[in-house]
Amino acid sequence: MRTVRWDPDGPAVFMIDQRLLPAEFQILTLKTADEVVQAIQEMAVRGAPAIGVSAAFGLALAAVNSRAQEVESLWQELETASGKLRAARPTAVNLSWALDRLLQAASEFKGKGTEAIQEHLVAEAQCMADEDVRINRRMAEHGAALIPDGATLIHHCNTGALATVDHGTALGVIRTAHEQGKRLHVLVDETRPRLQGARLTAWELAQYGIPHEVICDNAAGYFLSRGVVDAVLVGADRVAANGDVANKIGTYMLALAASDNQVPLYSVLPTSTIDLTLPSGAEIPIEDRDAAEVLDLQRSGKPIAPAGCQARNPAFDITPHRLVTAFVTEVGVLHPPYDVHLRRAVQEAQTK
Ligand code: MRU
Repeated sequence: MRTVRWDPDGPAVFMIDQRLLPAEFQILTLKTADEVVQAIQEMAVRGAPAIGVSAAFGLALAAVNSRAQEVESLWQELETASGKLRAARPTAVNLSWALDRLLQAASEFKGKGTEAIQEHLVAEAQCMADEDVRINRRMAEHGAALIPDGATLIHHCNTGALATVDHGTALGVIRTAHEQGKRLHVLVDETRPRLQGARLTAWELAQYGIPHEVICDNAAGYFLSRGVVDAVLVGADRVAANGDVANKIGTYMLALAASDNQVPLYSVLPTSTIDLTLPSGAEIPIEDRDAAEVLDLQRSGKPIAPAGCQARNPAFDITPHRLVTAFVTEVGVLHPPYDVHLRRAVQEAQTK
C-alpha cells in the first residue's frame, strides 16, 4: 500500500505512521492542512519525496475545507497554508517544489472560480503522487544496472517505499536489482538518532526478502576498509547546482570512508530534489531538531546521557560533490561534471 494517499470520501489524507514502525502498523487519517504540518514536523511521514506529496495533499485539504466564496479569499487561505507547510521542515527541497507546482497549476484556474481551483488542486496532488511512483521505478531501473550480482551494499537512512509514495529511491534500486534476480546483501546503517535504518529500512527489506544485517553507523568504515562492500547507496534531500548533497546526518562520514576505500557511492534522487537556485551545499538550510531525539532514543523516558546533559541534533549534513561517484535520476545516471549534467537532467525531465 502507498505511504501517503488521498481519501476522496473524507476528504482526508491517509498516511502510514512511521513513528510507530516496526512495532505497530497504523494508518493516520488527517483532515486538515495543520494536521499534515504536524505529521511532517513530528516525522509521522518523512523522506523527501513523501513529504513533498504530503504537503501537496495538505494544500489540497486546505482548498477543499475552505468556505471562501471568492477566489481572492481562497487564494489567501492557500498562501497561509502553503507558508505553514513549506516551513514544516527546511532541508528537503521537494516540499517547496511540490507546493510551488501546485500553486502554479491552481493559478491557471483563477478565472474559473473557487470550485474549479479546489478540484484542480486535488487532481494535481493525486497526479504528483502517481508520478512519484513512476519516477521511482525509472530511477530503480537505471540504478539497478550499476549493482553487480552478489554485491554487498551499505544503505543509509530509509529511502524505500516509506520515504516516497511507493518503491523508493536508493532502496528502490536495491529492490529492483533483487527483483531482477541479483543476489544481494545489505548492511543497514541504523541511522541515529531517529533510527530510520534499523526501524524502517530493515522492516522493508524483510518484506522484500532481501538478506540484510543492521550495523551501527560507526561500523560502516570498518566494513568499507575490509573490502567487503561493493557500493554505498544513499538518497538526497537537496542537491545544489554543483552536485553537493544534503542528506541524512552521517552521509558525509560514510562518503569519506567510501572514497578512502575506493568504493563507489551513488546518490539516488528524482530531479525534483535538485535545486539549481543554490550554487553549492553551503547555501542549503540544515534542519536542527530537538536535542531530546539524541538524548532519549525513541522517547523511552530513559535518557542515555546524564540528567541535564545538552546535545546537538543537525538532521542532515552536506556531502561535497567530489565524494559522489554518480547520481541516479529518472532521466539516467549522471557523472561529473555535475554542474553541467544536473542542469541538463532537470531540463530533460521538464520536457518529458
Ligand atoms: O529526516 P528524514 O527521515 O526525512 O530524512 C530522510 C533522508 O535523509 C533520506 O535519505 C532522503 O529523504 C532521501 S529518501 C527518498
